[in-house]
Amino acid sequence: MDKIIIKGGNKLSGTIKVSGSKNSSLPILFATLLTDDECKIKNVPVLADIKTTVDFLNFIGKKTTRKANIVNCEKSSKLNHIAPYDLVRKMRASVLVMGPLIARLGKVNVSLPGGCSIGARPIDIHLDAFKKMGAKIELKEGYINVTIDGRLKGADIEFRFASVGATENVLLASVLAKGTTRIINAAKEPEIQDLADVLIKMGAKISGAGTKIITVEGVEKLHGFTHNVIADRIEAATYMIAALMTKGEIILTGVIPEHLQIVIDKLIEAGSDIKINNDTIIVKWKKDLKPINIRTEIYPGFPTDIQAQWMALMCLVKGNSIVEETVFENRFLHVCELQRLGANLKIEGNLVYIQGVKELSGAPVMVSDLRAGAALVLAGLCAKGKTEISRIYHLDRGYEALEKKFRKLGANIKRIKG
Ligand code: UD1
Repeated sequence: MDKIIIKGGNKLSGTIKVSGSKNSSLPILFATLLTDDECKIKNVPVLADIKTTVDFLNFIGKKTTRKANIVNCEKSSKLNHIAPYDLVRKMRASVLVMGPLIARLGKVNVSLPGGCSIGARPIDIHLDAFKKMGAKIELKEGYINVTIDGRLKGADIEFRFASVGATENVLLASVLAKGTTRIINAAKEPEIQDLADVLIKMGAKISGAGTKIITVEGVEKLHGFTHNVIADRIEAATYMIAALMTKGEIILTGVIPEHLQIVIDKLIEAGSDIKINNDTIIVKWKKDLKPINIRTEIYPGFPTDIQAQWMALMCLVKGNSIVEETVFENRFLHVCELQRLGANLKIEGNLVYIQGVKELSGAPVMVSDLRAGAALVLAGLCAKGKTEISRIYHLDRGYEALEKKFRKLGANIKRIKG
């Protein structure tokens, strides 16, 4: 298995372009199943999860190819309604195949995704919504069979939690349903808005995306589209934190700063120098940062996907701070690994108490999940000596050209094939 080796201590400086959003690209790729027409998606990051989704679409019957950052889907004719375990287990977002296939075929047979390292991650909110729209759901031999007589029916669906995946799945299903669907307590993440923009380009009638209530008037048919995926706000935040941890200065281009408002506010509160100019953010370390607490929340709150990186930052800030995780029940797997690098951290329930240390020192560490991996890279970049990071396939799921981008900024980082 490949490893990343970092020799810490280099100040980062320079300019990089932020990649397209992984979490936007995935639902948009699944949206192509809603039409037989050709579709073109640009600014798609080159990542393992994108490859998995492209393979998935081909398996379902949508002939799809990726060339650099562009994904093309050809005209399709017959779609397959079975999503086997081998495809679903690689990526939880595979459950997004459900919405489009129930809407198109009236049936879908998806392997249950199971839990993952950051929590149980059930899909009850997705399934309850499909039931409200008239679908019959059966669990059998590790598969969820969803069927509907005729067409899905529009309904008022109130989520008990503003789940990102469930909002996307119900949007994908309701655009072809009969009548009006209202998603109440919908997720408001920018990736939802991006998906809705695509669906509207396809001919869907959607209002309120990006707010708590989304209304969809079902239509009979959708057509092809061309779309440019929005910038990855999580990648951008990771590089902003890297600049500050290494006491450097970096320029990020191709960003949508308002998607990062809470992170920018927190970084400024901590004492960093941040300048915004249209789609460019300049982050500069100017003095020792102050310890700042964060609490993860649904958008526009502090993203759970930046919690681990924030913790890495606070590990080196003099004083005490607290990180509170409210979205996932087990998202502190990076704590033990950061401790191996010398961090002073204590977990109590969904809180981590951080006492800043003067320096971290390199050690072998292991990645447990994508964002935990990002936190370890950040810590390694400023740790004294060598940090050897294993199980980096998690990082390859979410960070395009990670070593190349960090090397461009002056980091001593390389990948060893294994
Ligand atoms: C998406 C993002 C992920 C991000 C998360 C929260 C993608 C591909 N992934 O994941 O990076 O961390 O949003 O911002 O976009 N839940 C239930 N029942 C359900 C659905 C969710 O209990 O039916 C729970 C989950 O277990 C979790 C919480 O709700 O604790 C958040 O999940 P959700 O918003 O659905 O996240 P994902 O769509 O899986």
